Amino acid sequence: MSRILVTGANGQIGSELVDVLRSRHGASRVVRLDLQPPPSPDGHSASGPFEVVDVRDRDALADVIGRHEVDTIYHLASLLSATGEQHPDRAWDVNLGGLKNVLDLARQHHLQVFWPSSIAVFGPSTPKTDTPQNTVLDPATMYGVTKRSGEMLCQYYHRRYGLDVRSLRYPGLVSHKTAPGGGTTDYAVDMLKAAAESEPYTCFLEPDAQLPMMYMPDAIRATLALMDADGTALSVRDSYNVAAFSFAPQDLVAAIQRHRPAFGCTYAPDERQRIADAWPSSVDDSTARDDWNWAPEYNLDAMTEDMLSHLREGERESGSVGA
Ligand SMILES: NC(=O)c1ccc[n+]([C@@H]2O[C@H](COP(=O)([O-])OP(=O)(O)OC[C@H]3O[C@@H](n4cnc5c(N)ncnc54)[C@H](O)[C@@H]3O)[C@@H](O)[C@H]2O)c1
Repeated sequence: MSRILVTGANGQIGSELVDVLRSRHGASRVVRLDLQPPPSPDGHSASGPFEVVDVRDRDALADVIGRHEVDTIYHLASLLSATGEQHPDRAWDVNLGGLKNVLDLARQHHLQVFWPSSIAVFGPSTPKTDTPQNTVLDPATMYGVTKRSGEMLCQYYHRRYGLDVRSLRYPGLVSHKTAPGGGTTDYAVDMLKAAAESEPYTCFLEPDAQLPMMYMPDAIRATLALMDADGTALSVRDSYNVAAFSFAPQDLVAAIQRHRPAFGCTYAPDERQRIADAWPSSVDDSTARDDWNWAPEYNLDAMTEDMLSHLREGERESGSVGA
């Protein structure tokens, strides 16, 4: 029976992953770890162990792994792309220092590790459409540099020490439970939230900035499917391309207007457009499909409908929308 540690557990992905892992394994077997206690835990998140630790602190991490007899780590703690550009030194320390600590402790304690990479590993010289699994990787941000370096570190630990570390290059993720944490694709969640509140939205990317995206339920399924897969079937140990669908802000506006015809969006691109310019518009995930049967379930319309209904429900529950 697994004992699991999730770092960065309060974040956009962690908060949802913990709930799914706790319903699979039981709350007491899944330890949440983050810089601060969760703001207002609900569901499965409320009932299990929580540790306040900075992943840069190797001794504190080792203590948590030992006390809870952890055998699997989902290492999500990170600074994201936009925040990483504001604080490049901290991004390097947290993203790579934290990963190195996790990999060294995993090696020592024979743990299985999941660590997410990102489409930020691609850069201006990477083919923009159907970006292949193996291609030019010339990241244009410190975040992308830490992700590409991290991928190489994971592959090295697998080859050199036989460590069972697995990774996905997540595209931009859309979810309604926890607000995104400073990424370039956060506009999608912000726009859907504005639409659910019958507010107009000003987008920080250009209308035609098409990027690979994924709805959170598919991202969680992909993560668990990769971790459950037979290790001998995995041909990629730096990080797998995974894709669901691609859209630009103007496509999301059109999808929202099918439900909310009055929704309006204006555009005021900022420095995040430069980050988006270096990323692909679509990625080829055929290796993930071949190796561990990856297939997404949501497209743009299904995601939009589901997001709008959940955001509306959330508002009713929190009382921020009139009856
Ligand atoms: N959300 C996306 O669209 C996306 C896309 C690609 C890759 N990823 C990757 O997935 C992972 C999780 O992303 P997310 O969107 O949930 O991020 P998030 O910003 O929502 O959450 C990150 C969490 O890490 C915590 N954290 C930061 N520094 C820490 C430290 N030093 N010690 C302990 N905890 C620390 C933060 O408090 C936060 O709760 C990251 O590695 C990110 O790069 C996310």
